Amino acid sequence: GKYRVVSTKPMPGTRWIRLLTDQDCRVEICTQRKTILSVDDILALIGDKCDGVIGQLTEDWGEVLFSGLSRAGGRAFSNMAVGYNNVDVNAATKYGVAVGNTPGVLTETTAELAASLSLSASRRIVEADEFMRAGLYDGWLPHLFVGNLLKGQTVGVIGAGRIGSAYARMMVEGFKMNLIYYDLYQATRLEKFVTAYGEFLKASGEAPVTWRRASTMEEVLREADVISLHPVLDKTTYHLVNKERLSMMKKEAILVNCSRGPVIDEAALVEHLKENPMFRVGLDVFEEPYMKPGLADMKNAIVVPHIASASKWTREGMATLAALNVLGKIKGYPVWSDPNRVEPFLNENSPPPA
Ligand code: GLV
Ligand code: GLV
Repeated sequence: GKYRVVSTKPMPGTRWIRLLTDQDCRVEICTQRKTILSVDDILALIGDKCDGVIGQLTEDWGEVLFSGLSRAGGRAFSNMAVGYNNVDVNAATKYGVAVGNTPGVLTETTAELAASLSLSASRRIVEADEFMRAGLYDGWLPHLFVGNLLKGQTVGVIGAGRIGSAYARMMVEGFKMNLIYYDLYQATRLEKFVTAYGEFLKASGEAPVTWRRASTMEEVLREADVISLHPVLDKTTYHLVNKERLSMMKKEAILVNCSRGPVIDEAALVEHLKENPMFRVGLDVFEEPYMKPGLADMKNAIVVPHIASASKWTREGMATLAALNVLGKIKGYPVWSDPNRVEPFLNENSPPPA
């Protein structure tokens, strides 16, 4: 291989490796057992010559790594993730490194996990399962693990982009929930879907579903019964859900987070869960890599380890897209692009090949 491409982790499937090796790239996969690589670990992997890197969301891709990659002759980096809060795109631009992410292939998989957490929280699946395994079941009782009926309740979505919209649609269509959403942009396709579905239900003699675009996030927090967070994490969304905003939510609301942990002030959430035993959360993400103390002790919290995109199809797709991002830049090909994606790389318009 003429080009050296480094992947900081083994990734699912083999297609991504073949794509690169078929096109003059030698692929080096870091097999260090440490879960999270430090900046120094990654600098060592980059070495003296490296044309591109596929990295992970747990890594701090800033000034040091991009200058290191640039010194090694590298011009391409792709996160194997749709989120890129771990990447300083300005630093990458400064050192002439194109940055890619992997949107599109994880939309439905991630939305399905958010839906799973919503249902698991509303029907107290995890608590009930623990009860069974503890040998406590002694026969049917009218009051055992009574939860909420979603039908006719309101689902609130904060951040109605690709994933938020897919989740909203699942909850509206699957469970006949009404929708309230907050986003800086209008979710036109989602609105059209809910309108059409409402018409369909009415024509079938059923209660129609409704939707509303809220003008403030607080409206969603106050009105919704189930709230799912789907914003990007940046300075404006850090601790977006804080003590004050938690207190605006219904006492029996369900809060789901499959975006990024720091969108919620997790310490405030633990306090809120303690004070409001009927309030429930389903969390895929944390102020990582650790959960705040106390969270795992709460019966009204369901916690899973950042697995929202973890379907085989999606993870292989993410690896493939990350490889294509890097390959495209190295070879000067027009890179893969999603119809919803603004540009193929986050920090440049790649020109058509000469
Ligand atoms: C996962 O968290 C991702 O951003 O892809
Ligand atoms: C419950 O199992 C019922 O039959 O109502």
